Amino acid sequence: MFTVKPMSEMERFGMQALKGGSEAAEQKQRRPIPRWVPIRTLKARHRRRILDHLVQLDEHDRYLRFGSPAPLEQMSRYTASIDFKRDEVFGVFDRRLRLVAVAHLAALPGGTGPNSKRPPAMEFGVSVLPSGRGRGLGQRLFEHAIMHARNHGARALVIHALTENRPMLRIALRAGAQLETDGADAEAWLNLPPDTLGSHLEGSLLAVSADLAFGFKRNYLRIKDWLTSLRGSL
Ligand SMILES: CC(C)(COP(=O)(O)OP(=O)(O)OC[C@H]1O[C@@H](n2cnc3c(N)ncnc32)[C@H](O)[C@@H]1OP(=O)(O)O)[C@@H](O)C(=O)NCCC(=O)NCCS
Repeated sequence: MFTVKPMSEMERFGMQALKGGSEAAEQKQRRPIPRWVPIRTLKARHRRRILDHLVQLDEHDRYLRFGSPAPLEQMSRYTASIDFKRDEVFGVFDRRLRLVAVAHLAALPGGTGPNSKRPPAMEFGVSVLPSGRGRGLGQRLFEHAIMHARNHGARALVIHALTENRPMLRIALRAGAQLETDGADAEAWLNLPPDTLGSHLEGSLLAVSADLAFGFKRNYLRIKDWLTSLRGSL
């Protein structure tokens, strides 16, 4: 049974560290990401890339992400089962076009039984490779997911995390999510405003810009590799 925690209890999950937790401060010393980060919408053809990203997470990170140590077979099954028509998957590529961050926005089935009064909701799951952490990518993907969930008609975003997962809970609590805990498990529930013409335009514009930025990086790398091989053959 989940119980709603008052604000003082929420402080256990890292909100007090907003004023100066040493671990968070160390993460913050990393160079922050630019104001705009290209976040690409991933498709079924990216399954292999998503799996490659997930296998780079260590056992503890996989535990935080999936709630279990998630061996390779489980991650393969998970990747193969993503329904790209129903859900949305986002990715951030670095300069070498490595997938450093992946977020999965999954449509939750219509409420029946005890959940029948709940509004249409989507569940948010995310992973950022250790090399990219503490720069605001997790936060940015969360904001991106909020916009897309609204555009999907969802009226709430749900995050399942372990109570030890301070970064994830900080992101959710900062957005105003209501937190409930059950032992080591936490559920954060964020109510969303309805979609607007502006949120749809923003979603389309960001998707096109991210694809353009990716194409630009890919062509740049191709030309660079070609010049390197040309130089080598002279
Ligand atoms: C959760 C995760 C996605 C966060 O990604 P990230 O890019 O590092 O997140 P951000 O840089 O946006 O940081 C988010 C907040 O957490 C804080 N933070 C980062 N690491 C922290 C730590 N170890 N302890 C406490 N706070 C921490 C940041 O300082 C930031 O808060 P602030 O802006 O108030 O300072 C990443 O840690 C991860 O991939 N973890 C493994 C998988 C996982 O846990 N997924 C979530 C469950 S679905």
